[in-house]
Amino acid sequence: MKKIAVLTSGGDAPGMNAAVRAVVRKAIYEGLEIAGVFNGYQGLIEGKIELLELGSVGDIIQRGGTMLRSARSAEFRTLEGRKKALSQLQKNGIEGLVVIGGDGSFKGAQELTALGLPCVCVPATIDNDINGTEFTIGFDTALNTVIDAIDKIRDTATSHERTFIIEVMGRNAGDLALWTGLAGGAETILIPEQKYEIPDIIERLKSGSGRGKKHSIIIVAEGVMSAPELAEILKREANIETHSSVLGHIQRGGSPSARDRVIASQYGAKAVEVLKEGRGGIAIGMQKHVVVDYNLTDVFEQSNSLDVAMYKLSKELSI
Ligand code: F6P
Repeated sequence: MKKIAVLTSGGDAPGMNAAVRAVVRKAIYEGLEIAGVFNGYQGLIEGKIELLELGSVGDIIQRGGTMLRSARSAEFRTLEGRKKALSQLQKNGIEGLVVIGGDGSFKGAQELTALGLPCVCVPATIDNDINGTEFTIGFDTALNTVIDAIDKIRDTATSHERTFIIEVMGRNAGDLALWTGLAGGAETILIPEQKYEIPDIIERLKSGSGRGKKHSIIIVAEGVMSAPELAEILKREANIETHSSVLGHIQRGGSPSARDRVIASQYGAKAVEVLKEGRGGIAIGMQKHVVVDYNLTDVFEQSNSLDVAMYKLSKELSI
């Protein structure tokens, strides 16, 4: 392989820039030409491709977002769209592609690989929901952003003796809610992977206040329901007053944590090594603290599993 390209796709995640930097620098270190595709798969279809140099990725390791921009492309989901994308790559002499994104982006990469263009995927999403890797880029930064918000909300919850419901992102996954709930000392955590009963939530709130607890924090993953919906239910079922806080896209922004910068650098460099060996249809990830590569098909064969022991622990510690 002499020339490869890199793109970021789907919802952005802090650390994507660090991954782009690693891909560009490692490719040049290995003697490859490296192009950046702007605006994700949609930009690929439209031929938004530029050659990148060492200096193109200077001063970005500490920045949130993605210098390559990101997009969700409906056109790329069609075979016609993917063929257009492929011909843009061929026109530019690109023989391999690094895709930085979440599972939707991985699916696109798998299909592009099937059309004959080797793709290697780097997991980057705050949802931490990609099968086969323990950590995705952006998850650690989002955790810290949410923890900061929980701590602040807890201050005012204590002062006013209130119960707060904090809604966090994660799409259909509960990792962000579970980790932040545990780290933030939440009294209740609701995640899509675990069944919950409204009477149990009410019971926990009542027994807490019976013991003299003056405030409570409930973390609800967006994949379960919205914070205002839960507030409505608690009011209706038990006349419990709560305040809702929906953290929203603040969770996707900000300067990446040191940990996200490190794994982004490792994953990006590993992706280039794999492509240089001429291998495609591969995902990069972390298993037992080691950076690994594995078949993209593994990502889709089973759903991402939740750490059930951690969920159990969070319940034990918040009695
Ligand atoms: O996948 C990242 C994520 O932030 C999810 O947590 C959330 O459900 C979704 O993207 C929001 O997408 P958008 O920014 O397109 O509204």
